Amino acid sequence: MRHFDLRGGVMHAEDVPIPDIAAAVGTPVYIYSTATIARHARVFREAVAATGDPLVAYAVKANPNQAVLAAVARAGLGADVVSGGELARARAAGIPADRIVFSGVGKTEAEMAFALDAGIYQFNLESLPEAEMLSAVAARMGVTAPAAFRVNPDVDAGTHAKISTGKSENKFGIPHRDALGAYARAAALPGLAMHGIAVHIGSQLTDLAPLERAFETVGALIAELRRAGHDIRIADLGGGLGVPYDPDQPLPPSPEAYGVMVARVTRGWNVRLVFEPGRMIVGNAGALVTRVIRVKEGVEAPFVIVDAGMNDLMRPSLYDAWHDIVAVRPSGAKVTANVVGPVCETGDTFATLRRIDQVAAGDLVAFMTAGAYAATMAGTYNSRPLTAEVMVSGDRWAVVRDRQPIEALIAADSVPHWLDEENA
Ligand code: LLP
Repeated sequence: MRHFDLRGGVMHAEDVPIPDIAAAVGTPVYIYSTATIARHARVFREAVAATGDPLVAYAVKANPNQAVLAAVARAGLGADVVSGGELARARAAGIPADRIVFSGVGKTEAEMAFALDAGIYQFNLESLPEAEMLSAVAARMGVTAPAAFRVNPDVDAGTHAKISTGKSENKFGIPHRDALGAYARAAALPGLAMHGIAVHIGSQLTDLAPLERAFETVGALIAELRRAGHDIRIADLGGGLGVPYDPDQPLPPSPEAYGVMVARVTRGWNVRLVFEPGRMIVGNAGALVTRVIRVKEGVEAPFVIVDAGMNDLMRPSLYDAWHDIVAVRPSGAKVTANVVGPVCETGDTFATLRRIDQVAAGDLVAFMTAGAYAATMAGTYNSRPLTAEVMVSGDRWAVVRDRQPIEALIAADSVPHWLDEENA
């Protein structure tokens, strides 16, 4: 569900006409809907409520804007963080430390100390050397670190290779066959309380079967670990549920169907479950609004050149991802076109030979489902400053991130004195 609809022929974000925002803030601009975030958080929580008292920890990497995190916090969600930076942002937005889990293969000593000091709920460890480092840091600080191993169940998630994480050749987790040995080693280390187990096999999953296989592996491991004397109380099932991007594709499984599967597979586990949804919460809560600079003739089809580039929205060039492209004031006429940005790379292409609303120079166009892994992955390539972000709620709207001025890019660099002297 999304709160971007045509009213009187003009696309609105909730009750705000998108052209009003574009006129005030300029383009490109990311627009987020508070109502969609709140709704998705509620739908997900309700879908998994039957599993007891789960912790739903929003994957901050999907969209770490403070306003988004504040909306997530208000909806009662915790956070899944993968860096000290994400932890700082989650805490700044008021997400309580006891609802925060820390994932990722490369946690540093400094990040571990920061998270221990904050008092987070659980560290999801991805290797024995990482467990040894956490043990040393915790022992030095005189505290006990609540921890889990993330296991790699060796299942094919059936998604894009770059966002699959649960195959044995991926860098994530410890091989499930090594889990018993790893827990035995970690349990013998000081400063660690190994009460959890975690899994996450990939993102934008459109089939529940691989998730179910991964969870079954976790269930079998919980039983084995308990037999070996480990007191497993928490199972973190990760994120990964896909969202609809292309209206012509079958819908991904609903949160309800996911919740029913989880309840069935985890029955009798006798643990507290943790979930780490990212895209499902914010994906359809955002759109990237851009203006057509010009339409250029092409051999096969015209090029619609818009003022957003691959630096603003990387997903199409990185993963060949599909984002629906719609005119903010559609005339009803359609055309087959290529939609491209201004960046000097052929990869700066959002759509090739796609049937879209006919648009002309000056028209506004929206890339839909741009709330997750969009603004947060932006860069400044081609010296294009970071885009503004806006949040709406009903008929109210606010800038939640200023457009970066080009002066900020220039000021961040410095010229070494020898070049200054030679120029003088
Ligand atoms: N938990 C862990 C440990 C993760 O690595 C991820 C995502 C999530 C949770 C959240 O997954 P979600 O529910 O959002 O699918 N940039 C890519 C997606 C990368 C996902 C990385 N990990 C994209 O634009 O598609």
